[in-house]
Amino acid sequence: MKTTGIIHPQYQIGAIDPRIGGAFLEHLGRAIYTGIYEPGHPTADEDGFRTDVLDLVRQINVPITRYPGGNFVSGYNWEDGVGPREQRPVRLDLAWRVRETNQFGTNEFIQWCKKANTEPMMAINLGTRGVDAARSLVEYCNHPSGSYYSDLRRAHGFEAPHGVKVWCLGNEMDGPWQIGHKTAEEYGRVALESAKVMRWVDPSIELVLCGSSAAGMPTFPQWEQTVLEHCYEQVDYLSLHTYIGDQEQNTARFLAKSVGMDHFISTVAATCDHVKAQKRSKKTMYLSFDEWNVWYHSHSHDAELEPWSVAPRQVEDYYTFIDAVVNGLMVNVLLRHADRVKIACIAQLVNVIAPILAEPGGPAWKQTIYYPYQDLALYGSKGVSLQPVINSPCYDDSQFGAVPYIDLAAVYDEESGALNLFIANRHESETLPLELDLRGFGAVWVAAHSVLAHADNNARNTLQAPNTVVPRLDGDARVVDGTLTANLTPLSWNVVRCKAG
Ligand code: AHR
Repeated sequence: MKTTGIIHPQYQIGAIDPRIGGAFLEHLGRAIYTGIYEPGHPTADEDGFRTDVLDLVRQINVPITRYPGGNFVSGYNWEDGVGPREQRPVRLDLAWRVRETNQFGTNEFIQWCKKANTEPMMAINLGTRGVDAARSLVEYCNHPSGSYYSDLRRAHGFEAPHGVKVWCLGNEMDGPWQIGHKTAEEYGRVALESAKVMRWVDPSIELVLCGSSAAGMPTFPQWEQTVLEHCYEQVDYLSLHTYIGDQEQNTARFLAKSVGMDHFISTVAATCDHVKAQKRSKKTMYLSFDEWNVWYHSHSHDAELEPWSVAPRQVEDYYTFIDAVVNGLMVNVLLRHADRVKIACIAQLVNVIAPILAEPGGPAWKQTIYYPYQDLALYGSKGVSLQPVINSPCYDDSQFGAVPYIDLAAVYDEESGALNLFIANRHESETLPLELDLRGFGAVWVAAHSVLAHADNNARNTLQAPNTVVPRLDGDARVVDGTLTANLTPLSWNVVRCKAG
């Protein structure tokens, strides 16, 4: 059952864009209210931002954060969330059947991003609105001064433009659940016209076109082809979303599902290249995997929610240890597609299907999935992704075929000599040996081998016991004469940090 292989600095997949470690914050449940924003909380700063949450966000080093949705954005009037707070209307949010107070909006988000050291990534509403609101929001955010919306921003206390670079052209417009759901033809047209005027306001922006909201959508991948035929030359990225769950309560199948995410990316990239060829274009379409995570625990609980409350406990998954291993497997898929996936956002960041939980008036802590996601942002976002050539024993899955027990991604930063290996062991009971030829790096040694493992697959980090599942620096990886060996704990997520040179 030994896994052998070679990692070599010249076997390169592609350069990693640091934005691969991004996150997502939606006006949903308690992500914003009592998540990142809670005036009156003991740790709240002068803007009402929870500094305990900010600390946990900063520890991840989140490069980019998508906002304000999600399904929410397709019914959102951005004007409701700017200007004096006492004049902001309370609206019905039809996406999540709650009331939105609008006490937090675009300017607060930009202020929060500055404090969190993250770049904003904003979505426009292509559900109930369109071209007009798209151009006015870009003008409000990015135009310096001397026009109605830029001067409105200044009147609201923000003299300097926000300089929002990345913009999403709506959200999941292929889904019938979306407010203002559209056919691919309808969406392709409005996305193109919105993109055009947004760039006329600010030619420096980057645009993300909505791809399919899941690989299982009946319109996938025809949706991608049609919308790209409309917009190929006007946009920079196509979006993908994937949520993985264990509804069948079958651990082996749950762990295999990241293979489906891998196929999804390959198919989307192939569809982009098909349209590129059709259009005789020189441009490569990059991908924005702007919603990815494990999500299933809260589905049954959410069905019982009373409508029209404000910031309820909604879409709050309390993650288990095994969810963290699956989260890590998703990290590896993203890294192995770093040549195409330039932006990725874990969905979401705080309280709502999130690595961070925050109790109203109380503490904030790290869920199990915090750790693999943090590993991506801290150790996987600089340098090049290398193509591991490995031979792992496999198990058979009726849906995904031969699934390797050992799943590996490798990131090398030549400048610092950091070679980071991200390794999951899918085997439920066996410690599996690994042997890797690293001679291509010259002198190399192991600086740290962290292991996330737990005897109980259902172990959680709770308010009472927030450190039940934490990584330990007790892995046995070592390098002798250019060969790395390690014994990988059953059901574990490992980060082996090597130094070369
Ligand atoms: O992240 C939760 C929801 O999942 C988002 O609002 C939507 O885009 C997706 O369906």
